[in-house]
Amino acid sequence: MTIVILKLFHYLAIVFSGGVLVGGGVIQSVYTKENKIPEIHVAKILKILGYIGLLSLLILWVTGILLSIILYNGFIINSAFTVKLIAAGFLLGFSIFTNFHVYNSSKKKLPPNKKIMKISTMSGRGLLIIVLTAAAIAFY
Ligand code: HEM
Repeated sequence: MTIVILKLFHYLAIVFSGGVLVGGGVIQSVYTKENKIPEIHVAKILKILGYIGLLSLLILWVTGILLSIILYNGFIINSAFTVKLIAAGFLLGFSIFTNFHVYNSSKKKLPPNKKIMKISTMSGRGLLIIVLTAAAIAFY
């Protein structure tokens, strides 16, 4: 039962983190194309999406660590799993960094840096694809 619940939350968190990346990415790309800065309410939405993304990554880590220990007695499973862990670590790092940046800029009443937001959205997408591919190979 514990394993089923952990897996359910692991999968739910994947849905949320992916949704945030796609949704936030679409909103940002519309503004970038128009060369406009998101107005206050949209900026607020992007900030909340960032928090949801970070929270879902933390849930992925907590449930993932527990699943690894319960099902595999640790983190040495296979090389694809190691790749998955490294990419998931980078994803978490990017998410923490971007959330800090958005938080700091909104505190200074400035829009987030366009370049930082673009790079973090693109890397987030790429890293998520790497993590999912590595998960598919690791548990083949
Ligand atoms: C962005 C982060 C992550 C994503 C997108 C992700 C994605 C996935 C997916 C799609 C599966 C299902 C694979 C399958 O059953 O074929 C899975 C399973 C699993 N994940 Fe993650 N994961 C993430 C982070 C983590 C982390 C950080 C850990 C461990 C520290 C972890 C440990 C596991 C384990 C042990 C399973 C296998 C459970 C089983 O044997 O059924 N995951 N993950």
